[in-house]
Amino acid sequence: MVDWKLIWDARASSSNPFETMGRSDNSIFDFLVLMDDIQRKFGGIFQNDQMLEIGCGIGCIASYYSPWVARISCIDNSDAMVSRAKMNLKSFLNVNCYNDSIPKLSKTLGQSTRFSKIIVGSVLQYLNSFDEVIETISNLSLVSQSSCKILFTMNPDLSLKDEYMKSYKTLNLDSDRLQKSLEIENSRLWIDFSQIEMIAEQSGFTHLQKLPVNSAFWQSNHMFDFILAK
Ligand SMILES: C[S@@+](CC[C@H](N)C(=O)[O-])C[C@H]1O[C@@H](n2cnc3c(N)ncnc32)[C@H](O)[C@@H]1O
Repeated sequence: MVDWKLIWDARASSSNPFETMGRSDNSIFDFLVLMDDIQRKFGGIFQNDQMLEIGCGIGCIASYYSPWVARISCIDNSDAMVSRAKMNLKSFLNVNCYNDSIPKLSKTLGQSTRFSKIIVGSVLQYLNSFDEVIETISNLSLVSQSSCKILFTMNPDLSLKDEYMKSYKTLNLDSDRLQKSLEIENSRLWIDFSQIEMIAEQSGFTHLQKLPVNSAFWQSNHMFDFILAK
Protein backbone atom coordinates (compact mmCIF):
# COMPACT_ATOMS: atom_id res chain seq x y z
CA MET A 1 0.00 0.00 0.00
CA VAL A 2 1.16 3.54 -0.72
CA ASP A 3 1.76 5.71 2.38
CA TRP A 4 0.22 9.00 1.21
CA LYS A 5 1.18 10.85 4.39
CA LEU A 6 4.84 10.06 3.73
CA ILE A 7 4.52 11.21 0.11
CA TRP A 8 2.95 14.57 1.03
CA ASP A 9 5.42 15.15 3.88
CA ALA A 10 8.25 14.66 1.36
CA ARG A 11 6.67 16.88 -1.30
CA ALA A 12 6.34 19.72 1.21
CA SER A 13 10.04 20.47 0.83
CA SER A 14 9.96 20.91 -2.97
CA SER A 15 11.12 24.27 -4.30
CA ASN A 16 8.39 24.08 -6.95
CA PRO A 17 5.12 25.23 -5.29
CA PHE A 18 3.07 23.38 -7.89
CA GLU A 19 4.84 20.12 -7.05
CA THR A 20 3.85 20.55 -3.39
CA MET A 21 0.23 20.57 -4.68
CA GLY A 22 0.71 17.44 -6.80
CA ARG A 23 0.57 19.63 -9.90
CA SER A 24 4.19 19.60 -11.00
CA ASP A 25 3.22 19.98 -14.68
CA ASN A 26 1.21 23.16 -13.98
CA SER A 27 2.22 26.72 -14.84
CA ILE A 28 1.10 29.89 -13.05
CA PHE A 29 -1.60 30.19 -15.73
CA ASP A 30 -2.91 26.70 -14.94
CA PHE A 31 -3.07 27.75 -11.28
CA LEU A 32 -5.09 30.85 -12.22
CA VAL A 33 -7.44 28.67 -14.32
CA LEU A 34 -7.95 26.49 -11.22
CA MET A 35 -8.69 29.54 -9.03
CA ASP A 36 -11.19 30.84 -11.60
CA ASP A 37 -12.77 27.39 -11.93
CA ILE A 38 -13.26 27.12 -8.15
CA GLN A 39 -14.91 30.53 -7.81
CA ARG A 40 -17.22 29.83 -10.79
CA LYS A 41 -18.26 26.48 -9.36
CA PHE A 42 -19.13 28.24 -6.08
CA GLY A 43 -21.14 30.86 -8.01
CA GLY A 44 -18.85 33.59 -6.66
CA ILE A 45 -16.74 34.21 -3.58
CA PHE A 46 -17.74 37.15 -1.38
CA GLN A 47 -16.22 39.60 1.10
CA ASN A 48 -18.31 38.19 3.96
CA ASP A 49 -17.36 34.56 3.26
CA GLN A 50 -15.87 32.47 6.06
CA MET A 51 -13.78 29.99 4.10
CA LEU A 52 -12.32 26.63 5.12
CA GLU A 53 -9.70 25.06 2.87
CA ILE A 54 -8.91 21.39 3.51
CA GLY A 55 -5.64 20.01 2.13
CA CYS A 56 -4.08 23.47 1.96
CA GLY A 57 -0.51 22.27 1.41
CA ILE A 58 1.93 25.19 1.61
CA GLY A 59 -0.86 27.78 1.35
CA CYS A 60 -1.03 28.66 -2.37
CA ILE A 61 -4.84 28.59 -2.67
CA ALA A 62 -5.44 30.36 0.68
CA SER A 63 -3.05 33.18 -0.32
CA TYR A 64 -5.01 33.68 -3.57
CA TYR A 65 -8.45 33.89 -1.92
CA SER A 66 -7.37 35.80 1.20
CA PRO A 67 -8.12 39.30 -0.23
CA TRP A 68 -11.59 38.22 -1.41
CA VAL A 69 -13.07 36.80 1.82
CA ALA A 70 -13.54 37.78 5.47
CA ARG A 71 -11.45 34.94 6.87
CA ILE A 72 -9.86 31.63 5.84
CA SER A 73 -9.03 28.66 8.02
CA CYS A 74 -6.70 26.35 6.16
CA ILE A 75 -5.81 22.88 7.33
CA ASP A 76 -3.63 19.98 6.28
CA ASN A 77 -2.67 16.72 7.99
CA SER A 78 1.03 17.09 7.11
CA ASP A 79 3.08 18.96 9.72
CA ALA A 80 5.66 19.72 7.05
CA MET A 81 3.01 21.35 4.83
CA VAL A 82 1.49 23.28 7.73
CA SER A 83 4.81 24.69 8.91
CA ARG A 84 5.62 25.94 5.38
CA ALA A 85 2.08 27.30 4.98
CA LYS A 86 2.41 29.24 8.25
CA MET A 87 5.63 30.86 7.00
CA ASN A 88 4.18 31.63 3.56
CA LEU A 89 0.96 33.04 4.98
CA LYS A 90 2.37 35.10 7.85
CA SER A 91 1.55 38.42 6.12
CA PHE A 92 -2.00 37.36 5.25
CA LEU A 93 -3.74 38.58 8.38
CA ASN A 94 -7.14 36.91 7.82
CA VAL A 95 -5.68 33.40 7.40
CA ASN A 96 -5.47 30.86 10.22
CA CYS A 97 -3.47 27.74 9.39
CA TYR A 98 -3.23 24.61 11.56
CA ASN A 99 -2.86 20.85 11.44
CA ASP A 100 -6.19 19.07 11.22
CA SER A 101 -7.49 16.25 9.06
CA ILE A 102 -10.53 14.70 7.52
CA PRO A 103 -12.47 12.66 8.39
CA LYS A 104 -12.29 13.65 12.09
CA LEU A 105 -11.82 17.45 11.84
CA SER A 106 -11.24 17.39 15.61
CA LYS A 107 -9.74 20.88 16.01
CA THR A 108 -12.08 22.53 13.51
CA LEU A 109 -15.12 21.01 15.23
CA GLY A 110 -13.86 22.35 18.57
CA GLN A 111 -13.86 25.94 17.32
CA SER A 112 -16.88 28.20 17.07
CA THR A 113 -16.41 29.30 13.41
CA ARG A 114 -19.04 28.09 10.97
CA PHE A 115 -18.11 28.34 7.31
CA SER A 116 -19.92 29.59 4.20
CA LYS A 117 -17.45 28.19 1.62
CA ILE A 118 -15.44 25.00 2.04
CA ILE A 119 -12.89 23.68 -0.47
CA VAL A 120 -11.85 20.04 -0.19
CA GLY A 121 -9.18 20.27 -2.87
CA SER A 122 -8.13 16.88 -4.22
CA VAL A 123 -8.14 15.20 -0.78
CA LEU A 124 -10.93 12.58 -0.63
CA GLN A 125 -8.80 10.29 -2.79
CA TYR A 126 -6.33 9.85 0.11
CA LEU A 127 -8.92 8.57 2.59
CA ASN A 128 -8.88 4.87 3.48
CA SER A 129 -12.49 3.94 2.82
CA PHE A 130 -15.89 5.22 1.80
CA ASP A 131 -16.87 5.16 5.49
CA GLU A 132 -14.34 7.96 5.97
CA VAL A 133 -16.05 9.94 3.17
CA ILE A 134 -19.35 9.54 5.04
CA GLU A 135 -17.72 10.73 8.29
CA THR A 136 -16.11 13.67 6.45
CA ILE A 137 -19.41 14.85 4.98
CA SER A 138 -21.20 14.45 8.28
CA ASN A 139 -18.52 16.47 10.15
CA LEU A 140 -18.48 19.13 7.41
CA SER A 141 -22.20 19.54 7.91
CA LEU A 142 -21.52 20.38 11.57
CA VAL A 143 -18.98 23.13 10.75
CA SER A 144 -20.99 24.74 7.95
CA GLN A 145 -23.42 27.66 7.96
CA SER A 146 -26.96 27.10 6.65
CA SER A 147 -26.03 28.75 3.33
CA CYS A 148 -22.72 26.87 3.01
CA LYS A 149 -21.40 25.45 -0.28
CA ILE A 150 -18.75 22.74 -0.21
CA LEU A 151 -16.68 22.00 -3.31
CA PHE A 152 -14.80 18.68 -3.55
CA THR A 153 -12.32 18.85 -6.42
CA MET A 154 -10.54 16.08 -8.32
CA ASN A 155 -12.09 12.85 -7.12
CA PRO A 156 -11.16 9.65 -8.99
CA ASP A 157 -14.32 8.38 -10.72
CA LEU A 158 -14.91 4.66 -10.11
CA SER A 159 -16.95 4.41 -13.31
CA LEU A 160 -13.87 5.48 -15.32
CA LYS A 161 -11.28 3.48 -13.38
CA ASP A 162 -11.01 0.39 -15.65
CA GLU A 163 -10.55 2.44 -18.79
CA TYR A 164 -8.02 4.72 -17.11
CA MET A 165 -5.99 1.79 -15.75
CA LYS A 166 -5.97 0.19 -19.20
CA SER A 167 -4.55 3.39 -20.69
CA TYR A 168 -1.29 2.77 -18.75
CA LYS A 169 -0.62 -0.22 -21.01
CA THR A 170 -0.30 2.14 -24.01
CA LEU A 171 2.46 4.15 -22.31
CA ASN A 172 5.30 1.72 -22.96
CA LEU A 173 6.54 1.83 -19.38
CA ASP A 174 9.01 -0.82 -18.23
CA SER A 175 7.36 -3.47 -16.07
CA ASP A 176 8.64 -2.10 -12.72
CA ARG A 177 7.42 1.39 -13.52
CA LEU A 178 4.08 0.05 -14.78
CA GLN A 179 3.57 -1.99 -11.63
CA LYS A 180 4.46 0.99 -9.38
CA SER A 181 2.13 3.31 -11.30
CA LEU A 182 -0.76 0.85 -11.08
CA GLU A 183 -0.12 0.37 -7.36
CA ILE A 184 -0.32 4.14 -6.85
CA GLU A 185 -3.56 4.38 -8.86
CA ASN A 186 -5.08 1.46 -6.95
CA SER A 187 -4.20 3.10 -3.64
CA ARG A 188 -6.38 6.10 -4.40
CA LEU A 189 -9.96 6.01 -3.14
CA TRP A 190 -12.02 5.71 -6.34
CA ILE A 191 -15.47 7.13 -5.71
CA ASP A 192 -18.86 5.93 -6.86
CA PHE A 193 -20.92 9.14 -7.21
CA SER A 194 -24.20 7.27 -6.65
CA GLN A 195 -22.98 6.51 -3.11
CA ILE A 196 -22.42 10.24 -2.50
CA GLU A 197 -26.00 10.81 -3.69
CA MET A 198 -27.24 8.33 -1.09
CA ILE A 199 -25.44 9.90 1.88
CA ALA A 200 -25.63 13.64 1.12
CA GLU A 201 -29.26 14.05 2.12
CA GLN A 202 -28.79 12.08 5.35
CA SER A 203 -26.13 14.63 6.36
CA GLY A 204 -28.51 17.57 5.81
CA PHE A 205 -27.48 18.62 2.30
CA THR A 206 -30.36 19.32 -0.09
CA HIS A 207 -28.29 20.13 -3.15
CA LEU A 208 -25.66 17.90 -4.77
CA GLN A 209 -24.15 18.30 -8.23
CA LYS A 210 -21.50 16.30 -10.05
CA LEU A 211 -19.32 18.61 -12.13
CA PRO A 212 -16.57 17.95 -14.67
CA VAL A 213 -12.96 18.74 -13.80
CA ASN A 214 -11.93 21.69 -15.99
CA SER A 215 -10.77 20.29 -19.34
CA ALA A 216 -7.54 22.32 -19.02
CA PHE A 217 -6.37 19.60 -16.61
CA TRP A 218 -5.44 16.10 -17.75
CA GLN A 219 -7.14 14.70 -14.63
CA SER A 220 -10.47 15.56 -16.32
CA ASN A 221 -10.27 12.20 -18.13
CA HIS A 222 -10.83 10.17 -14.94
CA MET A 223 -11.81 12.51 -12.10
CA PHE A 224 -14.87 14.59 -11.18
CA ASP A 225 -15.73 17.49 -8.90
CA PHE A 226 -18.91 17.79 -6.86
CA ILE A 227 -20.62 20.47 -4.87
CA LEU A 228 -22.83 20.13 -1.81
CA ALA A 229 -25.14 22.79 -0.40
CA LYS A 230 -27.65 22.83 2.44
C1 LIG B 1 -3.20 16.71 -4.01
S1 LIG B 1 -2.70 17.80 -2.72
C2 LIG B 1 -3.91 19.06 -3.01
C3 LIG B 1 -3.40 20.46 -2.81
C4 LIG B 1 -4.45 21.53 -3.11
N1 LIG B 1 -5.59 21.41 -2.22
C5 LIG B 1 -4.92 21.45 -4.54
O1 LIG B 1 -6.11 21.26 -4.79
O2 LIG B 1 -4.07 21.59 -5.43
C6 LIG B 1 -3.37 16.99 -1.29
C7 LIG B 1 -3.12 17.73 0.03
O3 LIG B 1 -4.01 17.19 1.00
C8 LIG B 1 -3.30 16.86 2.19
N2 LIG B 1 -4.04 15.75 2.82
C9 LIG B 1 -4.02 14.45 2.46
N3 LIG B 1 -4.86 13.74 3.25
C10 LIG B 1 -5.41 14.62 4.12
C11 LIG B 1 -6.36 14.51 5.17
N4 LIG B 1 -6.90 13.32 5.50
N5 LIG B 1 -6.72 15.62 5.85
C12 LIG B 1 -6.17 16.83 5.54
N6 LIG B 1 -5.26 16.99 4.55
C13 LIG B 1 -4.89 15.91 3.84
C14 LIG B 1 -1.89 16.54 1.72
O4 LIG B 1 -0.94 16.69 2.76
C15 LIG B 1 -1.72 17.54 0.57
O5 LIG B 1 -1.21 18.77 1.04
